[in-house]
Amino acid sequence: MKILAFETSCDETSCAVVEDGKKVLSCIIASQIDIFKNYGGVIPEIASREHIKQITQCYEKALEEANITINNIDLIATTTNPGLIGSLLVGVECAKTLSYIYNKPIIGVNHIYGHIYANNIEHDIKFPSLAVVLSGGHSEFTLMDKHNSYKKIGHTKDDAIGETFDKVARILDLEYPGGPKLEKLARKGKNTYNLPIAMHNEKYNLSFSGLKSACINLVHNSKQRNEEINKADLAASFQYSAVKQITDKIEMILNDNKDIKQIMLAGGVAANTYIREQIQEVANKYNIEFIYPKILYCTDNAAMIGAAAYYKYQNQGPDNLNIVASPND
Ligand code: KG4
Ligand code: ZN
Repeated sequence: MKILAFETSCDETSCAVVEDGKKVLSCIIASQIDIFKNYGGVIPEIASREHIKQITQCYEKALEEANITINNIDLIATTTNPGLIGSLLVGVECAKTLSYIYNKPIIGVNHIYGHIYANNIEHDIKFPSLAVVLSGGHSEFTLMDKHNSYKKIGHTKDDAIGETFDKVARILDLEYPGGPKLEKLARKGKNTYNLPIAMHNEKYNLSFSGLKSACINLVHNSKQRNEEINKADLAASFQYSAVKQITDKIEMILNDNKDIKQIMLAGGVAANTYIREQIQEVANKYNIEFIYPKILYCTDNAAMIGAAAYYKYQNQGPDNLNIVASPND
């Protein structure tokens, strides 16, 4: 089954062709990072207009690279939610238009489930699996006991981890998106600032706003006292506290759910090498498998949407032209 997939939930316009949920025949991504560097973050109205400019070219290139025509496509998939509503609308309307014109079945995919299924492109999900979803807009733990079955067991009560990385990077004068730059800087530093590790009592939930405020306050107070901040050490301290919270919660989940066979990391922050190393240590301790997607499939892309769409389709068939974009989970 060849699936043509669209992803436009934030600031990446992407179109892919995926065969049987596994084989990526093409994955075109037009990133808007260069535009938003000047603003220090995504401006939703600009993002949606940029998607409109890019989507036709992405679609044409995706078919060309896969060496097929729309006639060979069996199913059209699109991210419907969550995300920026103006951005989502572009992918959803494009998918619906193609579905209508070429009389192809259509299916809507949750963006988070797409991130999770990025893992299934080069590895195999083994059930029960614990998905650790860490992205710019989401941070959550989801248990899967079979394909297309998702049970969210914990989530952030305030900021998402990616957004926190970007905000802390900004106060360290790193360019948007600061997450990857902060990781690089942290490699040169040590955990010396003794920052808080949050939410010890909140079962599997997470919190990053206290850690973010602690970093902002530290930088402001130092400026007022005319003291020099060691940016690399602060980056390393921040990363340590943010990640320790996550690995502590993973251990808690593994202790309570002894049948878990695998941990999968998902979302843009899954590109972070330190996080991968720390979760790998936990997986080794509990003697379970740990998988994560290759960097290209960590951040937003349409291949992951095609991968998730396949298993949703196997489970419940297609949707219809009534699917709508929604900012909600
Ligand atoms: O999943 P994604 O592409 O978009 C959302 O769905 O939100 O994630 C983007 C986020 C950004 O906040 C970015 O800074 C963060 O992922 N990110 C990283 C790294 N690479 C991307 N954060 C920390 N370390 C990285 N290496
Ligand atoms: Zn994402």
